[in-house]
Amino acid sequence: MKPLNQTITAFKESIFSTMTKLAIQNSAINLSQGFPDFDGPRWLVDLASKAMEEGKNQYAPSPGILPLRTAIAGNYKKYYGLDYDPNNEILVTCGATEAIFCTAMAVLNPGDEVIILEPFYDSYLASIQMAGAKVVPVTLHAPDFRLNFEELKSAITSKTKMLFLNNPHNPTGKMFTAEEIEKIGALAVENDFYLLSDEVYEFLTFERAHVPTACYEKLKERTITISSTGKTFGLTGWKIGWCCAPAEIIKAIHNVHQFTTFCVAHPFQVAMAEALANMDEYLAEFKRDYRKKRDLLVSGLKERGFNVLNPAGTYFTIALLPEGENDVDYCKKLIEEKKVATIPTSAFYIKSDEGTKMIRFCFAKTEATLNSALKNLT
Ligand SMILES: Cc1ncc(COP(=O)(O)O)c(C=O)c1O
Repeated sequence: MKPLNQTITAFKESIFSTMTKLAIQNSAINLSQGFPDFDGPRWLVDLASKAMEEGKNQYAPSPGILPLRTAIAGNYKKYYGLDYDPNNEILVTCGATEAIFCTAMAVLNPGDEVIILEPFYDSYLASIQMAGAKVVPVTLHAPDFRLNFEELKSAITSKTKMLFLNNPHNPTGKMFTAEEIEKIGALAVENDFYLLSDEVYEFLTFERAHVPTACYEKLKERTITISSTGKTFGLTGWKIGWCCAPAEIIKAIHNVHQFTTFCVAHPFQVAMAEALANMDEYLAEFKRDYRKKRDLLVSGLKERGFNVLNPAGTYFTIALLPEGENDVDYCKKLIEEKKVATIPTSAFYIKSDEGTKMIRFCFAKTEATLNSALKNLT
């Protein structure tokens, strides 16, 4: 038979699925994949049930139901002073993952170059490759993961079409400084490339509030802002995400969306519209809870001799391994001997070998789970 698409068949199983499977096989505590081991808020689940009972069970409008787009726009205005028109500058997608894919397909032509900052979230690579564009990695160097602007500048060519930014950053927990974003933005303007800004951890911040890339001067017109409710509401399985950008860009992204998923699950949109429109109280509690989890895991790991970083954002922390250790072997050892699953960070790199010297822990877990993991690691 004729060969299948070689780009697609070359993709490997995601490291998150691999580690979760290994965790199950070894009955290990799973601090690998980034999802909570507790349910999202009951009131939100009840809102979705109500929407189903009330018959919101057929296709939703392809761009997303207007009340949800309006609530998303309301939050950008309220929390960040950003204006997005819910009628034509916001598209609801099946999680941030679909927004990333559709954006890549809509913006990139075969042969275009896209800069990604490694370590990077794994769907970036696949989405860029599926669009036929070339991935150009630039490394954020451990242990502080600061961007080296000379390295970034030398990665830019006349073919650079886009740069993927993830802020707050998975897996490092880094929040980019205003100076870094301003400098990246200046290069984007000077060299005329787009910015995809993946901000799914926008509300998981511990040191200072998040500032979307689109807030910076001259950047809104060339930035596709992507976010999702999976992390913020602890309901990763609902897959409600979105992208916001100038109308012309959203129109192109929608062209992809309408022929991939067409629309996102209707009752979940109804529930999320209400949740997003009234989230102040929830957010305060959410941040308090996650700060406690971060402090518990980070201090517990430190007490047990791990060289862990204190993340400014996200629900991950990185541990730098002792000299001579390798991330994949170390993760296997932790699963088999200590019954704790983590992620080898080399999976987030394609250029540098720095990832082989670190592992990632996820603290989106109950205190009981985190305490059990720490007990195992004693
Ligand atoms: C940086 C980053 N972007 C996007 C996603 C995917 O988000 P969603 O579940 O909304 O598709 C994740 C999930 O872990 C992530 O860490």
